[in-house]
Amino acid sequence: MILSFVLNGERQTLEADPFERATRILAEVCGVESVKTSCGIGRCGACTILADGAAANACLLIAARMDGVEIVTAEGLGARADALVRSLKEEGAIQCGYCAPGLLVSLVALRERGDAPDRHELETVLAGNLCRCSGYAGLRKAVLDLAERGWDRNG
Ligand code: FES
Ligand code: FES
Repeated sequence: MILSFVLNGERQTLEADPFERATRILAEVCGVESVKTSCGIGRCGACTILADGAAANACLLIAARMDGVEIVTAEGLGARADALVRSLKEEGAIQCGYCAPGLLVSLVALRERGDAPDRHELETVLAGNLCRCSGYAGLRKAVLDLAERGWDRNG
């Protein structure tokens, strides 16, 4: 099929098998580096992208479902992630390059829903983005603090 979608603000038109996974198309055809394939079955969140504004696992998205969709990866978040990144840095909540991009995409989706999550809602979001090596304490604190401030932290 001829596949057409928007990736980080730029129109992409390419030929793909309709059942090809978005993870392979984004990484191997489009050259995206942040979208990782880890579990490949929708469990770990290393492949999280925004698809029409909602967080989605790229490993579960096939080419036929990408057509006409606006996709944003961690590379394309720009200023949408600034307040979160500042808050995470201040809290020392530093994750590795494997889990951090998907985690950031999920947190931006949460932030853009606008409401202040309680700890339980945040746990639900974080359950979709696994880290095998680090504690979540700083991460939770950074996000809950930021949400309490209305998701805005300047400087
Ligand atoms: S690789 Fe997609 S959720 Fe794990
Ligand atoms: S810090 Fe990335 S998997 Fe643990």
